Amino acid sequence: MWKYALLVLCGVALLFDCTAGRLLGNYESAARSNTEELLKKVPRRIVNGTKAVLGQFPQQVSLRRRYSQSHFCGGSILTPDWVLTAGHCMLDNLGKVIGAYTIIVIAGEIVLKNTNRARQWSYVSERIVHPEFDIDTLHNDVALLRVETPFVFDPYVRPAPVMRDKMIPHTECQVAGWGRIQYEGPISAYLLFVDVPLLPIPLCRELLYNYSSIPPGMFCAGYLDGGRDACQGDSGGGMICEGYLTGVVSGGEGCAWPRLPGLYADVKYYLPWIELYVELNNNFTIRSTPFNGRSSAMQTTSTFMILVFVLAEIFSL
Ligand code: ARG
Repeated sequence: MWKYALLVLCGVALLFDCTAGRLLGNYESAARSNTEELLKKVPRRIVNGTKAVLGQFPQQVSLRRRYSQSHFCGGSILTPDWVLTAGHCMLDNLGKVIGAYTIIVIAGEIVLKNTNRARQWSYVSERIVHPEFDIDTLHNDVALLRVETPFVFDPYVRPAPVMRDKMIPHTECQVAGWGRIQYEGPISAYLLFVDVPLLPIPLCRELLYNYSSIPPGMFCAGYLDGGRDACQGDSGGGMICEGYLTGVVSGGEGCAWPRLPGLYADVKYYLPWIELYVELNNNFTIRSTPFNGRSSAMQTTSTFMILVFVLAEIFSL
């Protein structure tokens, strides 16, 4: 009799696991299979980018104007409290520094107008523009934002570790953003990303001699033939090289034009300045949230019950 009771219990436990697993885990596995699907289907078209999926660039944030809700720049999560962006993102049309209270930071989102379950948002309590930022030359184009409501890290909202080594030219890096999909074109409704190779500094100086002296703290990336690049609206967003936050989208002549690679602020160069305010930590612990999938406790209930049932069967023989 008790064996049948156990059998029923096993069934219930299994059912519970499956439903809970489906409810909680679906989100993540959907994101994963979505990535693969999209990478296969979506043509490489930022400029000529590919749609990113939720969790692919978990450090990426969208900066919005508090009153109009319009997206104006990207940014990268550094810690639960701090976001790195570009200095020029903090200036208004008249060149005046905007108030921290006018900015909203949105994390865990890929569709500009959506509100998905992974989304976290915050007002900004403090913004620090690099003291030597120069709007004309874009030298020292970095700024820090302290969020009012700290982020709770999960697979969709978390920092990328920061690049501390010297970058090797020609490394393929990724840059993501909701910026324009072509020069003077519309901004993108979806987070797009593109692969761009880092170029050697002497080549950057040669190609961009009309536009920038490429001082220390700046580098360039792109293709001699053009075609793929960041564009207006991507500024402030992070460039990721081999999984590490390496650059901040800063400037460029046009977008994706031949022989005019994009300009980036060099994260490694600005680390001493960043670390004056931010305690960086490359070993992030991700707090467990429903988005982590099913809990191990749930996974074990049915396994344990099945084990008990099998043992009971064996011993009763
Ligand atoms: N300054 C631009 C912005 O405010 C980003 C320029 C990037 N341009 C480029 N061709 N890589 O969004």
